[in-house]
Amino acid sequence: MNCGHEKSVMFEAGVIQERVAQMAERITADYAGKDLLAVCVLKGAFMFFADLLRRIPLELETDFVRIRSYGAGDASSGRIELTKDVECAVTGRDVLIVEDIVDCGLSMDFLLREFRARGPKSLRLAALIDKVERRCVPVRVDYAGFVADAGFLVGYGLDYAEQYRTLPAIFRLNLQP
Ligand code: IMP
Ligand code: MG
Repeated sequence: MNCGHEKSVMFEAGVIQERVAQMAERITADYAGKDLLAVCVLKGAFMFFADLLRRIPLELETDFVRIRSYGAGDASSGRIELTKDVECAVTGRDVLIVEDIVDCGLSMDFLLREFRARGPKSLRLAALIDKVERRCVPVRVDYAGFVADAGFLVGYGLDYAEQYRTLPAIFRLNLQP
């Protein structure tokens, strides 16, 4: 496994934590008194999810889904599958999907449709990174951490072929040989 790509820092750990705290504050205000079900999209969002939720002082439930959209590299296959579903009811709940990156939008378009069909009371999307300019299907991110354009990002949960997830900052990977 090539773990030796050149990479340059894009968002320092402290900057991420500051932004996550701001997002948590907004989400806390918006969901006070509601029946919040926060759904983590595995694996990429696991670190963001943990940091975000520990800053939301509300009673809430957590659950996890896993979708497969990317292969082992950096190109989208365009085919999306739900490989792990939530284990709780969604109907009538205030559901917040927590994702790492919205890129082309196919993954979240798929997941939001899937959840909408289950009749939640409300359904919103939080994403740490919104690659707005890369969208090929319209997906609205209700809570976006950072907007990024081109480049493949790793660290803070994000991987390239399962590498780099545990880095505390986010880096742009140079995939040129
Ligand atoms: P989309 O369906 O094109 O929006 O793909 C979104 C998914 O692709 C995210 O959940 C990520 O898992 C993955 N992805 C997109 N861009 C990156 C990146 O820069 N680094 C790591 N994963 C990415
Ligand atoms: Mg993902």
